[in-house]
Amino acid sequence: MTVAECHNQPMRAILCREYGPIDQLVLEDVAPPELRPGTVRVRVKAAGVNYVDTLIVQGRYQLKTPTPFTPGWECVGELVEVAPDVARDAPHLASGTRVLVAAGSGAYAEEVVAPAHAVTVVPDGISDGVAATFVQSYMTAMFALRNRAGAERGQSLLVVGAGGGVGLAAVDVGVSMGLRVFAVASSEEKRRLALDQGAEVAFDVAGDDIKSAVRELAAAEGKAGVDLVYDPVGGDLADTWLRTLGEGGQFLVIGFVGGIPSLPLNQVLLRNRSVIGVEWGSWAMQHRSANEALQREVMTMIAEGQLSPVEPTAYPLERTVDALTDLAQRRAAGKLVVVP
Ligand SMILES: NC(=O)c1ccc[n+]([C@@H]2O[C@H](COP(=O)([O-])OP(=O)(O)OC[C@H]3O[C@@H](n4cnc5c(N)ncnc54)[C@H](OP(=O)(O)O)[C@@H]3O)[C@@H](O)[C@H]2O)c1
Repeated sequence: MTVAECHNQPMRAILCREYGPIDQLVLEDVAPPELRPGTVRVRVKAAGVNYVDTLIVQGRYQLKTPTPFTPGWECVGELVEVAPDVARDAPHLASGTRVLVAAGSGAYAEEVVAPAHAVTVVPDGISDGVAATFVQSYMTAMFALRNRAGAERGQSLLVVGAGGGVGLAAVDVGVSMGLRVFAVASSEEKRRLALDQGAEVAFDVAGDDIKSAVRELAAAEGKAGVDLVYDPVGGDLADTWLRTLGEGGQFLVIGFVGGIPSLPLNQVLLRNRSVIGVEWGSWAMQHRSANEALQREVMTMIAEGQLSPVEPTAYPLERTVDALTDLAQRRAAGKLVVVP
């Protein structure tokens, strides 16, 4: 069989036929996507599961993918076919190379076709599981703490949802930047992950008087509160996290898995606090070369052990609905991958 014939064979893929509940997703045999100029074909080894995927398939994400489509924002795999213009312009993207793909869709399948600019060669020293799951969570944390907040060594950082993908990455990135990190999570397993990543303390979101405890920790350094809050959860508790900030403190708005909060502006005025929006995706699209440089830096830090993303829990492709449901229903600790 020639390479072209091989890629005409049906492949298994998850399909979102129309927006709706996660359990409407189906696993089907479909024709492999067409290789067009500027694209490459990747045989998927593992695809990362992100909260964003759960929103996309329900039609609740700000960007709408036309249906029907195969979801799956990011993955790792082996290059198996390269369009002639890519072979000419990007010779490092040769067949057989292990790459990560961050294309926004298509990863919950045996093969994905993606634009060459969304594909990055993965260095040795990074496992398939980590390569399939670090881009969205770590790039968001890096962009938020470094680019948006300008965080400095010695500052204190409160991370909410610290046992989830984006939160756990913020703990790891914060520790690597020399910040004192305080974590908040709902289960023993999630708090353990945050502590293992270097958090100084991990609070139970339901049980502890976190505002008083955080202020006490800050008071030991002569401060009225923490310097930074990293909040991917939102909801009613965002008000409490805002009040943990000390003089000049920065509240980083990351996401709203618990609902979109209303924050009292008097609490922003007090102590000269700021509320800072973070949208890594739009920045990455508008600053492609800066984003690629940041991603290379993050990969090097992972390969050299300065950052240590956790190994994900694996689900077979036929259990993609279970993986997305476990994440959406708050049962997942750390990261998940789907394996075709
Ligand atoms: N701003 C950006 O640039 C950017 C980029 C990527 C992702 N995000 C956003 O970041 C958020 C987190 O994404 P993720 O992939 O890290 O998700 P995740 O792995 O599911 O983690 C989210 C965490 O939120 C907590 N949570 C609290 N209430 C919840 C609820 N009602 N339902 C589900 N989780 C709840 C859970 O922690 P506890 O159980 O410990 O409370 C969970 O571990 C999403 O809103 C996503 O859209 C933003």
